[in-house]
Amino acid sequence: MPTREKHIYILGIESSCDDTSAAILFNGEVLSNVTASQKIHKEYGGVVPEVASRAHQENIIPVVDAALKKAGITKEQLSAVAFTRGPGLIGSLHVGVAFAKSFCLSLGIPMVEVHHMKAHVLAHFAEDPKPAFPFLCLTVSGGHTQIVRIDSPLEHTVLGSTIDDAAGEAFDKTGKLLGLDYPAGPLIDKWAKQGEAKFEFAKPNMPDLDFSFSGLKTSILYFLKKQLKENEDFIEENLADICASVQSSIVDSLMLKLRKAAKETGIQEIAIAGGVSANSGLRTAVTEAGEELGWNVYIPAFQFCTDNAGMIAVAGYFKYLEQQFVGQDVVPVARWKF
Ligand code: KG4
Ligand code: ZN
Repeated sequence: MPTREKHIYILGIESSCDDTSAAILFNGEVLSNVTASQKIHKEYGGVVPEVASRAHQENIIPVVDAALKKAGITKEQLSAVAFTRGPGLIGSLHVGVAFAKSFCLSLGIPMVEVHHMKAHVLAHFAEDPKPAFPFLCLTVSGGHTQIVRIDSPLEHTVLGSTIDDAAGEAFDKTGKLLGLDYPAGPLIDKWAKQGEAKFEFAKPNMPDLDFSFSGLKTSILYFLKKQLKENEDFIEENLADICASVQSSIVDSLMLKLRKAAKETGIQEIAIAGGVSANSGLRTAVTEAGEELGWNVYIPAFQFCTDNAGMIAVAGYFKYLEQQFVGQDVVPVARWKF
């Protein structure tokens, strides 16, 4: 039975990877969305799971406190806590799940489990304009790349996904080859703005609506090896052009399948989501394709692209309305089926 309450306050908790985030949602509207990013992983060139879970433990209480204060409410006003159950790093997920359990137990309020990838899609309901159903979403993050058809807030069907690396991983791994810090996606984006996409890399040839990015990484590796043999300063001298070329290769692969999905389904409501949807090349490409093909395009604000609890609270709100709660025996799931 759908709920008929008038004042629904949801606390969202996100701790699946290296961002500790808490958000407060009031009747579907985001009042606060506070994220503590863990800079420490830069030193290691990637996320170190044990370090991440320890940092979540340190961050979670201050982050929740800040989200409550920013929203101007007390914890006693909360209707429920929505938390990321998976997929993600198990140690990181445990921190958010354990926090949600103890908070709900002490406050006597229900708990709502949220699938991280579904939440990336539902981030679009945190702002206006909202997509109409059915819509397609290209969800591109550090761990996943998929095209999803969404028929209602709770009905999501994966139409295609990557068979190897995710788009974000392609950015991060290439960036590593170029000597850029982790996560390299935003840095490649920044450099690409000053460069020209003049280098060509191998193009994946995947059937249907699936993606593959591991060939691109190998192609770039061999390209760099060859160039560095002739000129050891090749990367420094051409960084902007290399970044523009890498970005354009990744964006082209994504857009090829997104256009195909729109054509095959006849759906004109097109959204992008996930960390890589912050990429300026992808944002421009999807906007231009929308103008060309008559799509209604939905691009999230930056705060809702990368991992954030606002999207978890929104996804939790839809389940809350249907009273889909979980008990204290809930456990995190590192590889949670979509
Ligand atoms: O969604 P997200 O915050 O975390 C996961 O669920 O994985 O995505 C993180 C990924 C990283 O790979 C990061 O490099 C990438 O998103 N990313 C970007 C940009 N901002 C973040 N990639 C390309 N361009 C950007 N501006
Ligand atoms: Zn994510």
